[in-house]
Amino acid sequence: MRTLLIVGNWKMNKTASEAATFIGELSQHLPKAPLTGVELVVAPPFTALESVGRVLGSESLIQLGAQNLFWEEHGAYTGEVSASMLKDLGCRYVILGHSERRTIFGEQNDGIRKKILAALTQGIRPILCIGESLAQRESGATDTVLTQQLQETLSGLSPDFVATIAIAYEPIWAIGTGKAATIDQAVAAHRTIRQFLTSAWSSTVADTTRILYGGSVTPQNIESLLASDQIDGALIGGACLQVDSFATIARLTSTTRSIGV
Ligand code: 13P
Repeated sequence: MRTLLIVGNWKMNKTASEAATFIGELSQHLPKAPLTGVELVVAPPFTALESVGRVLGSESLIQLGAQNLFWEEHGAYTGEVSASMLKDLGCRYVILGHSERRTIFGEQNDGIRKKILAALTQGIRPILCIGESLAQRESGATDTVLTQQLQETLSGLSPDFVATIAIAYEPIWAIGTGKAATIDQAVAAHRTIRQFLTSAWSSTVADTTRILYGGSVTPQNIESLLASDQIDGALIGGACLQVDSFATIARLTSTTRSIGV
């Protein structure tokens, strides 16, 4: 049984004080009791992690995530933040390898792999982002691209570690464009990812690992995406920045389908 996972990636939005206000309002819009079968995560910018963590407190239904980290523990790495620093602020998850990090900041699979290991060492669960560009999709290279990204970031990891990672399939052409992948496209990519997990580790690892979809997810399309038992949740950008839409997505996720493999 896989618990659904809904993650709000705030990207470079909201100051620390705006973030605290937002989380206070979001908590009002969510039911007080845990949402059945759903984990909720917000990933604010580094500068807002402390204020968000303070408003959430230890009892919150919402968990704290970060958007990146650096693989070294400490030292002369100007501008970087380590896994232990995030852990100290209460982060349970970290988004790694987002396509914006890859394309704008030049991140490569070998560095992303080191970041995954650093997170796991601190007990922070990575949300590994992979996905193809439009040109790669149009040339029929989607499966090859996804498999190579998985191979170069995950191979050699112990099965126990891999099963704690969430993999987010985020086609680059669907991010921020309002053009989400079709259900068939998303399901096909998720099957490719599960096949890789089965062949690199085992069907148990493939059945345990959560695979999220990301790219123009909204309250309007979340239910149809989650109608497939291949899709174990969503990584959300734009729609997580409004209280109403994020709360609606969270609520719909808890009622959309019974959880199971
Ligand atoms: P949008 O939901 O704005 O398309 O962003 C998706 C994303 O990049 C989440 O990480």
